[in-house]
Amino acid sequence: MSILNTHIGNLQFKNPVLLASGTCGIAAKELTPYFNLSDLGGIVTKSLGIKPWVGNPTPRVVEIPGCGLLNSIGLQNPGIEHFTKNELPFLKEQNANVIINVVGESLDEYIEVVNYTKNYSGFVALELNLSCPNVDGGLDFSQDPKKAYTLVNEIKKIATVPVLVKLSPNVTDITDIVKACVDAGSDGIVLINTVLGLAINKWTKKPTLPRAVGGYSGPAIKPIALRMIWQTYKKFPNVPIIGVGGIHNADDAIEFLLCGANCVQVGTANFINPKASIEIISGLKDYCEKTKLSSISEIIGQAHEKTLAGAIH
Ligand SMILES: Cc1cc2nc3c(=O)[nH]c(=O)nc-3n(C[C@H](O)[C@H](O)[C@H](O)COP(=O)(O)O)c2cc1C
Repeated sequence: MSILNTHIGNLQFKNPVLLASGTCGIAAKELTPYFNLSDLGGIVTKSLGIKPWVGNPTPRVVEIPGCGLLNSIGLQNPGIEHFTKNELPFLKEQNANVIINVVGESLDEYIEVVNYTKNYSGFVALELNLSCPNVDGGLDFSQDPKKAYTLVNEIKKIATVPVLVKLSPNVTDITDIVKACVDAGSDGIVLINTVLGLAINKWTKKPTLPRAVGGYSGPAIKPIALRMIWQTYKKFPNVPIIGVGGIHNADDAIEFLLCGANCVQVGTANFINPKASIEIISGLKDYCEKTKLSSISEIIGQAHEKTLAGAIH
């Protein structure tokens, strides 16, 4: 067993570093010149619907220098059929550990896409994207505990692999939504998707993105992600958490693990440094050696033990 092995329930990962949905093309083919996909803990695909989605009008991305990105892609994707026929065989050849991220415009669409995946092998889990800020109604399922419960409950009835649920930070109390997903049988919680944001163009005197509001990602959202993982771990210490939001190097990833995440996902960092994920894996190995850990999982949630009883939340 390797020092970096970790797990989410029965799902085993060779290391805790995964690629985040939508930040590495459809399924990371573009990153193969830089490293072997099988060296990662896993790859999460772009959100895939039952049919192709065209996405939002351009421009879709604004850089917020030093802080990250504001995007409004609108879940453009080629659909699950295209993915299973054209991308999944390549991922199998590469021995990649694949998690399929699925999305729908309604409960029925989520069910249809999950049912479709059941005809295929070569992936280990599903990630339900309940949390896209860039499509109309995209946040409904992750802002209303009843809707979240119904969706996760219906998907759990049909899914044949573990179901991870990716939630939005754009809520008052994340633990209400986490509770609904856990009660419905979710196998793990992915925290967080992008934070609602807006940029203004001083020359056009209008919002830079045609839909005005977009999803903010990158270094600036790391404290928000950590806070939500902190709150979730405190209330549900046995629920597996996958942390995502502003992770650019091994130090960031270590903070997420100490805070309570079992695994991490690397997103916006891939656009700046395509090798970020692989460098994080090697940084985690160094940390284990320097701090004489026999397994990286020893540090999961450790920050909670070292915090004063009176600390907030
Ligand atoms: C350009 C872009 C596209 C994204 N597309 C998706 C998507 O299709 N599905 C999804 O669940 N999350 C999507 N995300 C959210 C990321 O997976 C991640 O949750 C978020 O960006 C926070 O992590 P980061 O700060 O490391 O980027 C996207 C993010 C970006 C920047």
